[in-house]
Amino acid sequence: MSVLSGKKIVLGISGGIAAYKTASLVRLLIKAGAEVQVIMTPASHQFVTSFTLSTLSKKPVYTDFFNSNQATSTWNNHVEIALWADLILIAPATANTISKMVTGACDNLLQAIYLSAKCPVYFAPAMDLDMYIHPSTQNNLKVLESYKNLMIPAEKGELASGLFGEGRMAEPENIVAFLTKSLSKDKSLNGKKILITAGPTYEAIDPVRFIGNHSSGKMGFDIALAAAQEGAKVVLVTGPTQQHINHPLVETISVLSAQEMYDVCHQHFDGVDVFIGAAAVADYRPKNKATQKIKKSADDFVIELEKNPDILASLGAIKKQQFLIGFALETENEIEHAQQKIRKKNLDLIVLNSLNDQGAGFGVPTNKVTFIDKAFHIMPMELKSKEAVAVDIVNKIKEHYA
Ligand code: CTP
Repeated sequence: MSVLSGKKIVLGISGGIAAYKTASLVRLLIKAGAEVQVIMTPASHQFVTSFTLSTLSKKPVYTDFFNSNQATSTWNNHVEIALWADLILIAPATANTISKMVTGACDNLLQAIYLSAKCPVYFAPAMDLDMYIHPSTQNNLKVLESYKNLMIPAEKGELASGLFGEGRMAEPENIVAFLTKSLSKDKSLNGKKILITAGPTYEAIDPVRFIGNHSSGKMGFDIALAAAQEGAKVVLVTGPTQQHINHPLVETISVLSAQEMYDVCHQHFDGVDVFIGAAAVADYRPKNKATQKIKKSADDFVIELEKNPDILASLGAIKKQQFLIGFALETENEIEHAQQKIRKKNLDLIVLNSLNDQGAGFGVPTNKVTFIDKAFHIMPMELKSKEAVAVDIVNKIKEHYA
Protein backbone atom coordinates (compact mmCIF):
# COMPACT_ATOMS: atom_id res chain seq x y z
CA MET A 1 0.00 0.00 0.00
CA SER A 2 1.30 3.47 -0.91
CA VAL A 3 2.10 5.92 1.90
CA LEU A 4 -0.15 8.29 -0.03
CA SER A 5 -3.13 6.05 0.61
CA GLY A 6 -5.75 7.95 2.62
CA LYS A 7 -3.74 11.17 2.54
CA LYS A 8 -5.74 14.36 2.03
CA ILE A 9 -3.89 16.46 -0.52
CA VAL A 10 -4.60 20.02 -1.61
CA LEU A 11 -3.17 20.34 -5.10
CA GLY A 12 -2.61 24.01 -5.91
CA ILE A 13 -2.20 24.73 -9.59
CA SER A 14 -0.76 28.06 -10.71
CA GLY A 15 -0.71 29.50 -14.22
CA GLY A 16 2.10 28.00 -16.25
CA ILE A 17 2.15 25.71 -19.26
CA ALA A 18 3.12 22.77 -17.01
CA ALA A 19 -0.42 22.97 -15.59
CA TYR A 20 -1.47 20.69 -18.45
CA LYS A 21 0.46 17.88 -16.74
CA THR A 22 -1.65 18.13 -13.59
CA ALA A 23 -4.32 15.94 -15.15
CA SER A 24 -1.83 13.04 -15.03
CA LEU A 25 -0.67 14.13 -11.59
CA VAL A 26 -4.22 14.01 -10.17
CA ARG A 27 -4.72 10.56 -11.74
CA LEU A 28 -1.52 9.21 -10.18
CA LEU A 29 -2.36 10.63 -6.74
CA ILE A 30 -5.88 9.19 -6.84
CA LYS A 31 -4.49 5.86 -8.04
CA ALA A 32 -2.15 5.84 -5.02
CA GLY A 33 -5.22 6.17 -2.78
CA ALA A 34 -5.01 9.89 -1.97
CA GLU A 35 -7.99 12.24 -1.70
CA VAL A 36 -7.26 15.29 -3.84
CA GLN A 37 -8.78 18.77 -3.55
CA VAL A 38 -7.75 20.85 -6.54
CA ILE A 39 -7.36 24.61 -6.12
CA MET A 40 -6.63 26.56 -9.30
CA THR A 41 -5.36 30.14 -9.57
CA PRO A 42 -7.32 32.23 -12.08
CA ALA A 43 -4.39 32.20 -14.56
CA SER A 44 -4.10 28.41 -14.54
CA HIS A 45 -7.51 28.11 -16.27
CA GLN A 46 -5.74 29.17 -19.48
CA PHE A 47 -3.73 25.94 -19.45
CA VAL A 48 -6.02 23.18 -18.20
CA THR A 49 -9.75 22.99 -17.59
CA SER A 50 -11.36 22.69 -14.20
CA PHE A 51 -13.80 20.13 -15.70
CA THR A 52 -10.95 17.74 -16.46
CA LEU A 53 -9.51 18.09 -12.97
CA SER A 54 -12.86 17.90 -11.25
CA THR A 55 -13.70 14.70 -13.15
CA LEU A 56 -10.37 13.11 -12.30
CA SER A 57 -10.37 14.18 -8.64
CA LYS A 58 -14.09 13.47 -8.22
CA LYS A 59 -14.47 16.76 -6.35
CA PRO A 60 -15.43 20.31 -7.27
CA VAL A 61 -12.43 22.47 -8.15
CA TYR A 62 -12.16 25.84 -6.36
CA THR A 63 -10.62 29.07 -7.60
CA ASP A 64 -12.50 31.93 -5.95
CA PHE A 65 -13.31 32.82 -2.37
CA PHE A 66 -16.97 33.29 -3.33
CA ASN A 67 -19.19 31.06 -5.46
CA SER A 68 -21.19 33.97 -6.88
CA ASN A 69 -22.52 31.97 -9.84
CA GLN A 70 -24.56 29.75 -7.51
CA ALA A 71 -28.15 30.48 -6.54
CA THR A 72 -27.27 30.15 -2.85
CA SER A 73 -24.33 32.32 -1.85
CA THR A 74 -21.51 30.14 -0.58
CA TRP A 75 -17.82 30.75 -0.01
CA ASN A 76 -14.77 28.55 0.02
CA ASN A 77 -13.32 28.66 3.50
CA HIS A 78 -9.56 28.78 2.99
CA VAL A 79 -8.84 27.99 6.67
CA GLU A 80 -11.05 24.90 6.62
CA ILE A 81 -9.47 23.65 3.38
CA ALA A 82 -5.95 24.24 4.76
CA LEU A 83 -6.74 22.42 8.02
CA TRP A 84 -8.34 19.54 6.11
CA ALA A 85 -5.12 18.85 4.22
CA ASP A 86 -2.43 16.40 5.34
CA LEU A 87 -0.20 18.06 2.79
CA ILE A 88 -0.31 20.82 0.23
CA LEU A 89 1.34 20.35 -3.14
CA ILE A 90 1.74 23.43 -5.34
CA ALA A 91 2.49 22.22 -8.86
CA PRO A 92 3.30 23.95 -11.04
CA ALA A 93 4.63 26.71 -8.78
CA THR A 94 5.26 29.61 -11.16
CA ALA A 95 7.75 32.43 -10.51
CA ASN A 96 4.80 34.67 -9.61
CA THR A 97 3.24 32.21 -7.15
CA ILE A 98 6.64 31.50 -5.58
CA SER A 99 7.23 35.22 -5.13
CA LYS A 100 3.81 35.64 -3.51
CA MET A 101 4.49 32.71 -1.17
CA VAL A 102 7.67 34.53 -0.12
CA THR A 103 6.01 37.86 0.59
CA GLY A 104 2.78 36.49 2.04
CA ALA A 105 0.62 38.15 -0.63
CA CYS A 106 -2.93 36.89 -0.40
CA ASP A 107 -4.73 37.85 -3.61
CA ASN A 108 -6.24 34.48 -4.46
CA LEU A 109 -7.71 31.41 -2.76
CA LEU A 110 -4.55 29.31 -3.19
CA GLN A 111 -2.40 31.93 -1.43
CA ALA A 112 -4.91 32.18 1.43
CA ILE A 113 -4.86 28.39 1.83
CA TYR A 114 -1.05 28.36 1.72
CA LEU A 115 -0.87 31.01 4.46
CA SER A 116 -3.39 29.14 6.61
CA ALA A 117 -1.62 25.77 6.31
CA LYS A 118 -0.32 23.86 9.30
CA CYS A 119 0.69 20.80 7.28
CA PRO A 120 3.82 20.26 5.16
CA VAL A 121 3.85 22.25 1.91
CA TYR A 122 5.58 20.87 -1.18
CA PHE A 123 6.13 22.98 -4.27
CA ALA A 124 7.33 22.10 -7.76
CA PRO A 125 8.82 25.15 -9.51
CA ALA A 126 8.12 25.50 -13.23
CA MET A 127 9.27 28.33 -15.43
CA ASP A 128 11.55 29.25 -18.28
CA LEU A 129 15.31 28.77 -17.92
CA ASP A 130 16.29 32.43 -17.46
CA MET A 131 13.46 33.11 -15.04
CA TYR A 132 14.56 30.07 -13.05
CA ILE A 133 18.21 31.05 -12.76
CA HIS A 134 17.47 34.74 -12.08
CA PRO A 135 18.87 35.70 -8.65
CA SER A 136 15.40 36.91 -7.57
CA THR A 137 13.92 33.47 -8.19
CA GLN A 138 16.88 31.62 -6.70
CA ASN A 139 16.64 33.81 -3.59
CA ASN A 140 12.91 33.20 -3.35
CA LEU A 141 13.44 29.43 -3.54
CA LYS A 142 15.93 29.64 -0.67
CA VAL A 143 13.52 31.72 1.42
CA LEU A 144 10.69 29.24 0.83
CA GLU A 145 12.93 26.37 1.93
CA SER A 146 13.95 28.35 5.01
CA TYR A 147 10.21 28.51 5.81
CA LYS A 148 10.35 24.68 5.83
CA ASN A 149 8.51 24.30 2.53
CA LEU A 150 9.76 21.29 0.62
CA MET A 151 10.95 21.91 -2.92
CA ILE A 152 10.51 19.26 -5.58
CA PRO A 153 13.39 20.34 -7.82
CA ALA A 154 12.72 21.44 -11.38
CA GLU A 155 14.13 19.19 -14.09
CA LYS A 156 16.29 19.87 -17.12
CA GLY A 157 14.82 19.54 -20.57
CA GLU A 158 13.19 21.27 -23.49
CA LEU A 159 11.11 24.21 -22.32
CA ALA A 160 7.96 25.68 -23.83
CA SER A 161 10.04 28.64 -25.07
CA GLY A 162 12.12 26.25 -27.19
CA LEU A 163 15.13 26.80 -24.91
CA PHE A 164 16.82 23.85 -23.26
CA GLY A 165 17.72 23.91 -19.57
CA GLU A 166 16.54 23.81 -15.99
CA GLY A 167 13.08 25.04 -15.03
CA ARG A 168 10.79 22.31 -16.29
CA MET A 169 8.33 21.06 -13.69
CA ALA A 170 9.25 17.62 -12.37
CA GLU A 171 7.32 14.93 -14.24
CA PRO A 172 4.13 13.80 -12.44
CA GLU A 173 5.67 10.34 -11.80
CA ASN A 174 8.70 12.03 -10.22
CA ILE A 175 6.51 14.29 -8.08
CA VAL A 176 4.63 11.25 -6.76
CA ALA A 177 7.95 9.43 -6.16
CA PHE A 178 9.27 12.49 -4.28
CA LEU A 179 6.18 12.65 -2.05
CA THR A 180 6.31 8.91 -1.41
CA LYS A 181 9.97 9.02 -0.41
CA SER A 182 9.52 12.10 1.73
CA LEU A 183 6.52 10.66 3.59
CA SER A 184 8.13 7.29 4.17
CA LYS A 185 11.34 8.84 5.50
CA ASP A 186 12.19 7.05 8.69
CA LYS A 187 10.88 9.22 11.48
CA SER A 188 13.32 7.90 14.02
CA LEU A 189 11.80 9.72 17.00
CA ASN A 190 8.39 8.19 16.33
CA GLY A 191 6.75 7.30 19.63
CA LYS A 192 9.18 9.36 21.73
CA LYS A 193 7.92 12.08 24.05
CA ILE A 194 10.07 15.17 24.62
CA LEU A 195 9.61 17.91 27.20
CA ILE A 196 11.30 21.21 26.34
CA THR A 197 11.55 24.51 28.21
CA ALA A 198 12.02 27.73 26.25
CA GLY A 199 12.20 31.49 26.63
CA PRO A 200 12.72 33.68 29.68
CA THR A 201 10.83 33.63 32.95
CA TYR A 202 9.27 36.75 34.48
CA GLU A 203 9.55 37.13 38.24
CA ALA A 204 6.95 39.53 39.58
CA ILE A 205 7.94 42.48 41.76
CA ASP A 206 4.41 43.86 41.96
CA PRO A 207 1.31 43.56 39.71
CA VAL A 208 2.96 45.61 36.91
CA ARG A 209 6.71 45.02 37.21
CA PHE A 210 8.92 42.01 36.87
CA ILE A 211 12.52 40.84 36.60
CA GLY A 212 13.14 39.14 33.26
CA ASN A 213 15.83 38.60 30.64
CA HIS A 214 16.41 38.99 26.89
CA SER A 215 15.93 35.34 25.86
CA SER A 216 13.94 35.23 22.57
CA GLY A 217 12.95 31.58 23.03
CA LYS A 218 14.02 30.84 19.45
CA MET A 219 16.40 28.01 20.34
CA GLY A 220 13.77 26.07 22.29
CA PHE A 221 11.10 26.58 19.62
CA ASP A 222 13.52 25.48 16.88
CA ILE A 223 14.34 22.30 18.83
CA ALA A 224 10.62 21.61 19.34
CA LEU A 225 9.97 21.87 15.60
CA ALA A 226 13.02 19.78 14.63
CA ALA A 227 11.99 17.04 17.11
CA ALA A 228 8.35 17.04 15.91
CA GLN A 229 9.53 16.79 12.32
CA GLU A 230 11.28 13.57 13.34
CA GLY A 231 8.00 12.23 14.71
CA ALA A 232 8.44 13.04 18.42
CA LYS A 233 5.53 14.23 20.54
CA VAL A 234 6.63 17.48 22.12
CA VAL A 235 5.43 19.37 25.17
CA LEU A 236 6.91 22.87 24.94
CA VAL A 237 6.79 24.83 28.21
CA THR A 238 7.53 28.42 27.36
CA GLY A 239 7.98 31.71 29.13
CA PRO A 240 6.75 34.90 27.41
CA THR A 241 8.12 35.10 23.83
CA GLN A 242 7.17 36.34 20.37
CA GLN A 243 7.74 32.86 18.89
CA HIS A 244 5.00 30.80 17.26
CA ILE A 245 4.87 27.14 16.41
CA ASN A 246 2.33 25.27 14.36
CA HIS A 247 2.83 21.55 14.36
CA PRO A 248 0.27 18.91 15.25
CA LEU A 249 2.82 17.04 17.41
CA VAL A 250 3.70 20.09 19.52
CA GLU A 251 1.64 21.06 22.56
CA THR A 252 2.60 24.50 23.89
CA ILE A 253 2.09 25.43 27.53
CA SER A 254 2.67 29.08 28.43
CA VAL A 255 4.00 30.04 31.84
CA LEU A 256 5.35 33.22 33.41
CA SER A 257 7.56 32.44 36.40
CA ALA A 258 10.25 29.88 37.11
CA GLN A 259 8.01 28.34 39.77
CA GLU A 260 5.18 27.84 37.22
CA MET A 261 7.66 26.35 34.73
CA TYR A 262 8.96 24.05 37.48
CA ASP A 263 5.42 22.89 38.36
CA VAL A 264 4.42 22.17 34.74
CA CYS A 265 7.69 20.32 34.04
CA HIS A 266 7.24 18.14 37.12
CA GLN A 267 3.65 17.35 36.08
CA HIS A 268 4.84 16.03 32.71
CA PHE A 269 8.26 14.55 33.51
CA ASP A 270 7.16 11.04 34.46
CA GLY A 271 5.93 10.08 31.02
CA VAL A 272 8.69 11.61 28.89
CA ASP A 273 11.77 10.10 27.28
CA VAL A 274 13.79 13.28 26.90
CA PHE A 275 13.95 16.61 28.73
CA ILE A 276 15.68 19.63 27.20
CA GLY A 277 16.21 22.72 29.35
CA ALA A 278 16.52 25.49 26.77
CA ALA A 279 14.84 28.15 28.90
CA ALA A 280 16.75 31.05 30.41
CA VAL A 281 15.23 30.53 33.83
CA ALA A 282 15.68 33.42 36.26
CA ASP A 283 17.97 32.23 39.04
CA TYR A 284 16.36 34.54 41.61
CA ARG A 285 12.94 36.05 42.28
CA PRO A 286 11.72 38.84 44.56
CA LYS A 287 11.19 37.40 48.01
CA ASN A 288 7.93 39.26 48.43
CA LYS A 289 5.56 40.19 45.61
CA ALA A 290 3.74 43.43 46.46
CA THR A 291 0.00 43.03 46.03
CA GLN A 292 -0.39 46.68 44.95
CA LYS A 293 1.76 48.73 42.57
CA ILE A 294 4.78 49.99 44.51
CA LYS A 295 4.77 53.82 44.76
CA LYS A 296 8.01 55.74 44.43
CA SER A 297 9.15 57.40 47.66
CA ALA A 298 12.72 56.97 48.94
CA ASP A 299 15.76 57.59 46.67
CA ASP A 300 17.02 54.07 47.16
CA PHE A 301 14.95 50.97 46.68
CA VAL A 302 16.09 47.49 47.55
CA ILE A 303 14.44 44.30 46.30
CA GLU A 304 15.32 41.27 48.33
CA LEU A 305 15.72 38.19 46.15
CA GLU A 306 15.49 34.51 46.91
CA LYS A 307 16.67 31.55 44.83
CA ASN A 308 14.33 29.97 42.31
CA PRO A 309 14.23 26.18 42.14
CA ASP A 310 16.63 24.81 39.52
CA ILE A 311 14.24 22.94 37.20
CA LEU A 312 16.92 20.96 35.39
CA ALA A 313 18.75 19.93 38.56
CA SER A 314 15.49 18.92 40.25
CA LEU A 315 14.62 16.66 37.29
CA GLY A 316 18.19 15.29 37.20
CA ALA A 317 17.73 14.25 40.82
CA ILE A 318 14.63 12.15 40.07
CA LYS A 319 15.33 10.95 36.53
CA LYS A 320 14.88 7.29 35.62
CA GLN A 321 14.94 6.44 31.90
CA GLN A 322 14.93 10.09 30.80
CA PHE A 323 17.72 11.51 28.63
CA LEU A 324 18.49 14.93 30.08
CA ILE A 325 19.93 17.79 28.03
CA GLY A 326 20.91 21.12 29.55
CA PHE A 327 22.37 24.35 28.25
CA ALA A 328 25.23 26.31 29.72
CA LEU A 329 26.08 29.89 28.87
CA GLU A 330 29.59 30.65 30.06
CA THR A 331 32.09 33.47 29.77
CA GLU A 332 35.23 31.87 31.24
CA ASN A 333 36.63 28.38 31.95
CA GLU A 334 33.77 27.25 29.76
CA ILE A 335 34.52 23.51 29.50
CA GLU A 336 35.26 23.14 33.19
CA HIS A 337 32.08 24.97 34.22
CA ALA A 338 29.99 22.95 31.78
CA GLN A 339 31.43 19.70 33.13
CA GLN A 340 30.57 20.79 36.66
CA LYS A 341 26.98 21.40 35.53
CA ILE A 342 26.77 17.91 33.99
CA ARG A 343 27.75 16.44 37.34
CA LYS A 344 25.73 18.77 39.53
CA LYS A 345 22.53 18.44 37.49
CA ASN A 346 23.01 14.75 36.53
CA LEU A 347 22.85 15.47 32.77
CA ASP A 348 23.43 13.17 29.82
CA LEU A 349 24.45 15.98 27.49
CA ILE A 350 25.17 19.68 27.80
CA VAL A 351 25.04 22.25 25.02
CA LEU A 352 27.68 24.83 25.81
CA ASN A 353 27.47 28.39 24.50
CA SER A 354 30.51 30.50 25.06
CA LEU A 355 29.96 34.26 24.93
CA ASN A 356 33.59 34.43 23.72
CA ASP A 357 32.47 32.92 20.40
CA GLN A 358 31.24 35.49 17.89
CA GLY A 359 27.70 34.80 16.69
CA ALA A 360 26.68 32.88 19.84
CA GLY A 361 24.18 33.83 22.53
CA PHE A 362 21.14 36.07 22.88
CA GLY A 363 19.47 38.08 20.13
CA VAL A 364 21.40 36.65 17.16
CA PRO A 365 20.06 34.15 14.59
CA THR A 366 23.21 32.00 14.86
CA ASN A 367 24.79 29.88 17.53
CA LYS A 368 28.16 28.22 18.05
CA VAL A 369 27.90 25.39 20.50
CA THR A 370 30.04 22.63 21.95
CA PHE A 371 28.41 19.37 22.98
CA ILE A 372 29.78 17.63 26.05
CA ASP A 373 28.37 14.25 27.04
CA LYS A 374 28.35 12.68 30.50
CA ALA A 375 31.59 10.83 29.70
CA PHE A 376 33.02 14.33 29.09
CA HIS A 377 33.58 13.83 25.37
CA ILE A 378 33.92 17.31 23.93
CA MET A 379 32.42 17.94 20.48
CA PRO A 380 32.85 21.52 19.19
CA MET A 381 30.46 22.44 16.35
CA GLU A 382 30.69 25.07 13.60
CA LEU A 383 28.89 28.44 13.74
CA LYS A 384 25.41 27.68 12.39
CA SER A 385 21.88 29.03 12.24
CA LYS A 386 19.83 28.25 15.36
CA GLU A 387 17.64 25.98 13.18
CA ALA A 388 20.72 23.94 12.20
CA VAL A 389 21.88 23.74 15.84
CA ALA A 390 18.38 22.47 16.71
CA VAL A 391 18.76 19.69 14.12
CA ASP A 392 22.20 18.79 15.61
CA ILE A 393 20.62 18.50 19.07
CA VAL A 394 17.83 16.29 17.70
CA ASN A 395 20.49 14.17 15.96
CA LYS A 396 22.19 13.65 19.33
CA ILE A 397 18.89 12.30 20.69
CA LYS A 398 18.56 10.03 17.65
CA GLU A 399 22.11 8.74 18.21
CA HIS A 400 21.20 7.95 21.83
CA TYR A 401 18.24 5.80 20.71
CA ALA A 402 19.97 4.29 17.63
N1 CTP B 1 18.06 25.96 34.50
C1 CTP B 1 16.85 25.51 35.06
N2 CTP B 1 16.34 26.13 36.16
C2 CTP B 1 17.00 27.18 36.73
C3 CTP B 1 18.20 27.63 36.17
C4 CTP B 1 18.71 27.00 35.05
O1 CTP B 1 16.25 24.56 34.55
N3 CTP B 1 16.48 27.75 37.78
C5 CTP B 1 18.59 25.25 33.34
C6 CTP B 1 18.64 26.05 32.06
O2 CTP B 1 17.47 25.86 31.29
C7 CTP B 1 19.88 25.48 31.39
C8 CTP B 1 20.77 25.05 32.52
O3 CTP B 1 19.92 24.94 33.65
O4 CTP B 1 19.58 24.31 30.64
C9 CTP B 1 21.93 25.95 32.84
O5 CTP B 1 21.53 27.17 33.27
P1 CTP B 1 22.59 28.35 33.68
O6 CTP B 1 21.80 29.51 34.13
O7 CTP B 1 23.59 28.53 32.64
O8 CTP B 1 23.37 27.70 34.83
P2 CTP B 1 23.17 27.75 36.36
O9 CTP B 1 23.14 26.34 36.79
O10 CTP B 1 22.03 28.62 36.73
O11 CTP B 1 24.53 28.36 36.86
P3 CTP B 1 25.14 29.85 36.71
O12 CTP B 1 24.00 30.80 36.40
O13 CTP B 1 25.78 30.04 38.00
O14 CTP B 1 26.13 29.75 35.58
